Amino acid sequence: MDLERQAIESVLPRLLPADGQWPSRLHRAMRHAVLGGGKRIRPILARLANRAAGGDPESITEAACGLELIHTYSLVHDDLPALDDDVLRRGRPTVHVAFDEPTAILVGDALLTEGLLILARYPAGSEWGPARAEAVALVAEAIGSRGMVGGQMEDLEATGQVAGDGVSGDPGVRLDLIHRHKTGCLLRASVELGALLAGLGVEERGRFVGFGQSLGLAFQVADDVLDATATTAELGKSPGKDAEADKLTWVTLYGLEAARRKLHELETEMIELATDIEGPDGALAAVARKVVRRRG
Ligand code: FPP
Ligand code: MG
Repeated sequence: MDLERQAIESVLPRLLPADGQWPSRLHRAMRHAVLGGGKRIRPILARLANRAAGGDPESITEAACGLELIHTYSLVHDDLPALDDDVLRRGRPTVHVAFDEPTAILVGDALLTEGLLILARYPAGSEWGPARAEAVALVAEAIGSRGMVGGQMEDLEATGQVAGDGVSGDPGVRLDLIHRHKTGCLLRASVELGALLAGLGVEERGRFVGFGQSLGLAFQVADDVLDATATTAELGKSPGKDAEADKLTWVTLYGLEAARRKLHELETEMIELATDIEGPDGALAAVARKVVRRRG
């Protein structure tokens, strides 16, 4: 996992415009957001899924980093005063605190655009053309209004931060919808992207999609548990925000013990799915274990 992380860290800095390049305040703020923290789980998942699907992960590192820029955009916007209003992220001041709110909005816009641009450009070479087009569509669909942004909208409606259409009645159904979209879609797409860039067609990717979906849900349930139990030092962001904001989460709806039981169930499910893909005790199973046991 450390080597995987290093592979990402060694490529990310050169994919971002230099600090001094015009418009330098924006580029400095983009680099502040992306560099110097973050588990890099999405690009790591893409590389590991790629290897498990028979690809060469070295050829997809840039594309995988595109996912990290997109993920970072979502964090920068999520932290804004109009959304979660957080001052700390990855152990550092959030972008609107370190810079200012208008800059943070533009950092999100630019990281999203840059992430998709990277997916359209990498892996380089004309033989990758069709795969790149499919990759952009796969990721764009996962993060748009029917994916990650949709989940975020439902989250805001559930919290009462914005007026809702009142369509999602049952809180359990609503919670599942939020988690599977807000967090699950991009994590699932990360796993699926790795398989796609190994040359697997839609049907052959089915097992990867299943694993990615379970992992996406587990990741957010773990996040809910951590918000209720971890420290600022462990999280690199402020804990206790969910209860404070009256958020709909696994912990606020079902309680801590039920959330931990759910994580245990999801772990078993993920290990089975990973074993089906890569045999016993592979790299995807190790990530699954890490996701449910993480402390930050
Ligand atoms: C932490 O990731 C992030 C999540 C668990 C996802 C929460 C979902 C959003 C913030 C979506 C927001 C969407 C919009 C459009 C504002 P992580 O633990 O991998 O963080 P790290 O990269 O810092 O390690
Ligand atoms: Mg938040």
